[in-house]
Formats: sequence, structure tokens, C-alpha cells
Amino acid sequence: MKIFALIPKNFNLSKKLTTLMLTIFLGGLIIGSVIFYNILFDSAKNELNTQANVLISTMDSVRRYNQDKVHPLLEKQSEEKLLLESIPSYAVHEVFDILTNSYKDKYGEYRYKDAMINPTNLKDKATDEEIKIIDKLSLSQQDKLVGQNIDQGFLMINGENKFYSARPIKITQSSCLNCHSSLDKSPKSLQILYEQGKYKPNQGFGWELNKIIGTKIIYVPAKQVYKTTNEHFVLILVIFTAIFAVTIFLATLWLKKYVVQPLNRITQVAEAVSLGDMDVEFKKHSDDEIGRLADAFTRMKTSLEIALKRLIKKRERNNDESS
Ligand code: HEC
Repeated sequence: MKIFALIPKNFNLSKKLTTLMLTIFLGGLIIGSVIFYNILFDSAKNELNTQANVLISTMDSVRRYNQDKVHPLLEKQSEEKLLLESIPSYAVHEVFDILTNSYKDKYGEYRYKDAMINPTNLKDKATDEEIKIIDKLSLSQQDKLVGQNIDQGFLMINGENKFYSARPIKITQSSCLNCHSSLDKSPKSLQILYEQGKYKPNQGFGWELNKIIGTKIIYVPAKQVYKTTNEHFVLILVIFTAIFAVTIFLATLWLKKYVVQPLNRITQVAEAVSLGDMDVEFKKHSDDEIGRLADAFTRMKTSLEIALKRLIKKRERNNDESS
């Protein structure tokens, strides 16, 4: 393999192993980082999306509670002067404001908007980007295969990058149309507000049942997604590096104890034998390849001793004959 050939030949075994493992570790770290970061980023987005889902469902329930339970009670008092407290959308914004103010640490930077194509209150008018989201949601509603009716992503708002999670607004209760179908059908108290100019003429009317007319959208600063991702990413890197450091350390230690040191001992003995010292022994410490190497050297040394003895005897015999 090419990667093995890259390791300098003059390195000793421990250095070779450390270099090889470090190279694998660094390569793994670079490839792993890209993959991990993407997975973590997706999971941070999903987590926020799930949170947004819960918040939007909660706001829907507030709207429903207001429409079904509060509105009927306040209807009488609202005949002359419309009590905003009786309006579902007003209750939703009040509750969300309380949430972001009371739980600043967690939800302080969350923003909720009912972005509408034709809103009653112009502050709820959808921006161009939000209209694109409404179109996308309407399309995915028509396409039964996609049919999820959720959109999420990133948007630049006033120079700040925001993560958003959006669900469609559909009017499902006909009682909502009391105030949202036409001016003359709406309660007197609401008509007064239009006359007073609180709402612009024709704004917030002509809504139809079960049609997508806007989007409930939650914005979270994108830096929150990056922050969660980075925190988890650093943790994974630390764990990954620690596991590798321990692995490299233990592998090198093992190599030294079971390969390098026994090989050094065999080398020393072989050198002593080559200098004529026949009293030294190739000691066998294990039953593996190194143990077998020691055995082979022992056999070689025995053969050498026998050959030497024969040689000496032959030389003595020759000396005897010639004298
Ligand atoms: C009593 C009249 C009334 C009824 C009933 C009513 N609304 Fe509204 N709605 C209003 C008014 C007034 C506003 C504007 C409030 C404001 O100034 O923020 C509004 C605002 C909204 C908004 C925010 C966007 C916009 O147009 O400004 C949505 C969404 C909404 N209503 C949906 C509903 C739904 C859904 C129902 C039924 C569950 C409903 N409304 C019932 C009067 C009503």
C-alpha cells in the first residue's frame, strides 16, 4: 500500500507505527469532522424545528381556547367596544410575549409571526420571503406525496441570519369568518375600528375556509444553531482525540514490550554469538513469531556449535597426522 511506503525507512518500529497511526488519525479526523459537523448541524436544526413545532401547536391551542372559551364570554361586552382580549390572534401574541420575557434564557430571542398575504393588522403583512414560504407550503399541500406542510431554513432579516420554521395558516373554524369574511358581516365593534382607521379598509377580509392564507412562522437567530452544533462538535473532537491518543499510546507500548524489546534481546545474543560467545542463550518468552524466531536462532546456534566442534576436531586430527 502506498501509505506504508511513505513512512521513512530509517524510522524504528515504534516511530513507524506512531507515524502510521497519526496519519490515519489525522485523515480520519478531517473526513470525520466534515461528516460529523453536517450530522450535528442537521440534528441542531431538527431540535429547533421540534421546539418550534411544540411552540406553534401551543399557540394554536391558545388561539382555539380564546375562540371557543374566551370569545363567547366577551362577545357581549365587545358589542360596543371591541375588547382585543377576545381576539384569538391577540391572545397568541400576548402569550408569546410573556413566554419570551419570562424565559429569556431559553426563548428570549425567539420571534413568532402570523405572516399573512392579506392581514387585518399590517404588522402581520408577509414579507417577500415569507410569501415565497406561503407559496411553497401551498404547493406541498397540493402535492399529497410531499404533504408534510412544514418548511424550515435560513433567512437574512435586517442583516441578521435567522433560522425559521413555518407551518401554514388555514381557517378551519367557520366562526373565525365572523370577523374575517367581509366588513359588513363583521361585528359592529370591529367595523368601528375600521372606521377609526386602526385597520386599513379591506385588510383582513375575504379569507376562505381550508385555504392557505398565511404562515405561522418562528424565527430563531441562526447563531443558536451554530452554537449548539459547535458545542457538540468540540465535545466529539475531544472524545475522538482522547480515544486515539490512548490507542496510539497503548499500541506503541505493546509494540515495545512484545516486539521491539524481544527483538533487541535476540539481536544482542546473535551479536554475542557472532563474536564467538557460545554461553549466551536465545531465550524464548512467547509462543508467537518472535518465540519461533528465538527457537530458530537456538537451532542455528546448536548447529553452529556442532559444526564448530567438528571443525576443531578435524583440525586437531590434521595437526596430529602432520606432526
Ligand atoms: C371578533 C373578531 C375576530 C374573530 C372572531 C377572529 N379574529 Fe382574527 N383577527 C381579528 C382582528 C381585529 C385581528 C387583528 C388583531 C391585531 O390588531 O393584531 C385579527 C388577526 C388575526 C390574525 C393575525 C393576522 C392578521 O390578520 O393581522 C390571524 C392569523 C387571525 N386573526 C386568525 C383568526 C382565526 C384562525 C380565527 C378563528 C379561530 C379568528 N382570527 C377569529 C378579529 C377576529
